[in-house]
Amino acid sequence: MKKIGIMTTGGDCSGLNTTIQRILTGATKRGWQVLGIMDGTDGLYVNPPATIGLNDMLLPIENARLAGSFLHNGRATALNFETAAAQGKTDEFNAHLKKSLKTLNLDALILIGGNGSVSLAWANRELYQDLQLICIPKTIDMDMPLTENTIGFDTAVQQLTSFCDQLFLTARSHHRWFVVQSMGRDCGQLALHAGIASGASAILIPEIKFDIDNLVSHIQNANSDYGIIMVSEGISLRGHSGKPADMISRKLSASGILNRTAFPEHIQRSGDTVATDRILATRFADCALQAIENNETYVITTLDCNNVHTVSLSEFVSAGEQVSDPKIPELMTSNAYISPDDPLLDVAQNMGIYIGETK
Ligand code: F6P
Repeated sequence: MKKIGIMTTGGDCSGLNTTIQRILTGATKRGWQVLGIMDGTDGLYVNPPATIGLNDMLLPIENARLAGSFLHNGRATALNFETAAAQGKTDEFNAHLKKSLKTLNLDALILIGGNGSVSLAWANRELYQDLQLICIPKTIDMDMPLTENTIGFDTAVQQLTSFCDQLFLTARSHHRWFVVQSMGRDCGQLALHAGIASGASAILIPEIKFDIDNLVSHIQNANSDYGIIMVSEGISLRGHSGKPADMISRKLSASGILNRTAFPEHIQRSGDTVATDRILATRFADCALQAIENNETYVITTLDCNNVHTVSLSEFVSAGEQVSDPKIPELMTSNAYISPDDPLLDVAQNMGIYIGETK
C-alpha cells in the first residue's frame, strides 16, 4: 500500500477541489492512503506537520465543483519559500520541511501549483529526494510552459466573461464604455480569451505594444457607443502610473469617451468549476497517479495536442522564458506568454478588435 500526500500551493483557483477529489478517488481505488497537507508549505513548516487523512474524510463529490481548496493555500504572513528567502531563512525553512517530510514518510507527494511553486520545488529538489514528486499545473494566468492548459484557466475565463456580460447591459443603458482590468500578471491569456468570449472592442495585453491614440480613435469610430475595453493588469503606459484600467480610462475621458472602470479581481479565481476544468482535473489526477505507479519522480503533468502525459521538471524549468521572481531575485521561474503567431490574435483582428500595434 502506498502513502501519498497532496498539497495545494500558490494562489487558489477553481478546479483545485476537483483535482483533490479525483486524486483521492483514484488512490482509494488502488488501496492507497492519502494525506492532505494543510495550507501548502505552512503545513510542513509546523511540527508535527498539519495534515488530514483524506480517506476517512467525507469529500462529497458534489462539493468538488467548489472553488478554493479543501486543503487551503497558505497564509501570506507565514514563512514560505519566498518569505524565507527574503528574510535569509531558507536553510531554517528547508530544515523544517525536511523534518516533516521524514515524519510523514510519504511514498509520493502530488503538488498542485503554478510556475512559482513548481520552479521552487525544482530549485529545492533535494527536499523531495526520498519520495516521488509529481506536480500538476494550475493557474488562472495560463503562463506555464509545455502545457496547453492549466487547472483553473477555463473557469477564470468564464468568470470574467460572465462579469463582462453583466456590464454590457448597464453600459448600453448609459451609452458608455467599461474598461475592465483582468488578472493574469504579465501574461495576457486570460484577457485575450475572455475579451474574445465577451465581445470586447479592444483587448490590451502585455505581449503587444499599443498606441493610445489608435485605441481612442478605434473606440471613437466604433459602430457602438458602449462596450468593453479589456485591459490586462500587466500592461503599462509610458509616463503614467497607477492601475492600468485607470490610466486607459483617463485617456478615454480626455477624448470625450464616456466610460467607467471595473475590477473583477479575485472573482476570477472563484466560481463553480466549469466542465472543461473538471475534465482536465480528472485527466491530470489520473496521469499523476499513473506516474506514481510507474515510479516517476520530479515530473509535471501536461496537456499536449490533447494528450495528457508527464514531462520532467528539468525540461519544464528550461522550456519557458526564464524570469527572475520579484520576491526572490536569485530564483528564475519558468514562464510562458502569448506567442506572436497565436491564431487567436489573428481571429481577434479579423473581428475588428483592437489588440495593439501588431505590425
Ligand atoms: O497568479 C494568480 C493571480 O491571481 C494573478 O493573476 C494576480 O496578479 C495575483 O495572483 C493576485 O495575487 P493576490 O491574491 O496575492 O492578490
